[in-house]
Amino acid sequence: MKKIAVLVSGNGSNLQSLIDSCSEDYIPGKIALVISSRPGAYALKRAEEASIDTLVLQRGDLSRSEYSDLILNHLKNKKIDIVCLAGFMQRLGKNLTDFYRGRIINIHPALLPKFGGKGMYGIKVHREVISSGEKVSGCTVHHVDQFYDHGQIIKKKEVPVKKNDTPRSLSERVLESEHQLYPRVLKELILNLEKKEFIKND
Ligand code: GRF
Repeated sequence: MKKIAVLVSGNGSNLQSLIDSCSEDYIPGKIALVISSRPGAYALKRAEEASIDTLVLQRGDLSRSEYSDLILNHLKNKKIDIVCLAGFMQRLGKNLTDFYRGRIINIHPALLPKFGGKGMYGIKVHREVISSGEKVSGCTVHHVDQFYDHGQIIKKKEVPVKKNDTPRSLSERVLESEHQLYPRVLKELILNLEKKEFIKND
């Protein structure tokens, strides 16, 4: 059974959808660790309620590479196979993203490569989508490298932008689609990794 870590900073509704999908055996894996970059994150409560080990790791004065090493050591100690970023507000260093290459993914609340990059997070993304006159938005799950929203795209899910949408109403519709897409992609990733391991060991 693959061991998953989820990195969070906020509400954790995507974490919740992954927790639920694991406990319903939809995802053939176990969330073994939740790491938050913020002490007060509601995501921590969700993890505790699901009896998942949690850690708060704030960046503080650490360089990006030192912070990433700190996280990486905890992931290695717990023998984590796959890392999911779910609203994690820190960009990670190459030391960590290289170690987990192909096994670290993120969800973004727009159709990448549009509306991504530094500063494109939260409500700002939806504000930009609406003011650009887009008729379709959605979410994207992608591999994570050391750059913002940059790794290879795995899968996107479209949602319509409605005529009277506000950034808030659009964000709610996109978030619902995230809760469908993320578990689906994680499941496929695990199955693909297991298939590769099977072929290698056969
Ligand atoms: C989501 O919109 C996700 O796409 C983005 O951050 C938000 C996190 O929401 N990366 P939540 O904490 O999972 O509710």
